[in-house]
Parts: sequence; C-alpha cells; structure tokens
Amino acid sequence: MPSKDSTNITGNPIPLIALDDLTAGETKGVEIELDDVATKFSGKEGKRLNLIIWHQGNEIRVFKNACPHIGLPLETFPNRFLTVDKKHLICSAHAATFDHSGTCIAGPCPGKSLTEYKTTTLDGWLMLG
Ligand code: FES
Repeated sequence: MPSKDSTNITGNPIPLIALDDLTAGETKGVEIELDDVATKFSGKEGKRLNLIIWHQGNEIRVFKNACPHIGLPLETFPNRFLTVDKKHLICSAHAATFDHSGTCIAGPCPGKSLTEYKTTTLDGWLMLG
C-alpha cells in the first residue's frame, strides 16, 4: 500500500494547481515550497517538495516525485511520468513501473510504493493537505 503522508504538511491546505489545468489521463509535475515556520524564522531557504499529479479520469492522485528504488525523480522530461499506454507511472532511471495506487509492479523495487499525499479541492483548485 502506498503511504499517505501529510505529516510534513501543516496548517492550511496548499494550492497546487487549478483543476482546469489538469487533463484526464495525464500527469503534471509541480514543485512547491513548504511554509515551514521554523524555516521562516531561521532565514534558511524553505523546504521544497517535488510532486507528481496524476489525473486518472475519475480521481486525482498526488505522489512525491521520488522513486522508492534510490530516490531519484521519475521523469527525464517535464510532465512525462507515464508509460506509452498511459496506464502506469514509470521511472526513467531504471524503469520501475507503478500502478494507479503508486505501488511498484515491475522493475527494481516491486511492492514498494511512492509516497502519496492527501488532497482536497476548493474553489476550482487542487489543494495539498
Ligand atoms: S531510481 Fe527509479 S527505478 Fe531506479
């Protein structure tokens, strides 16, 4: 089972993308900066989170863009996360292939999962948290 991880997401939901900018059956990559209070007051650069948004038709899933094999981002080209038949996510590094739930079904990390984040929708936006 993919892990649902919202432990790093505190406070109000974070807008990710307008729902109108998503296309059924396609993926988008987005990068956000987490509004971490400790980071704000330390003067350090905020934590960045690289995400994959997968509009599967009847649902939208959001995964951390880090392959469970060795942690690399999945894509080589922007927004290109899917197999040719668009049925699975695939990592461009060593071809780990993931089903709709983010579980690796082929490649070097079978049974391991992408980290999935909880989302909501609000006023036409997909929100993280
Ligand atoms: S880093 Fe993704 S398959 Fe190796």
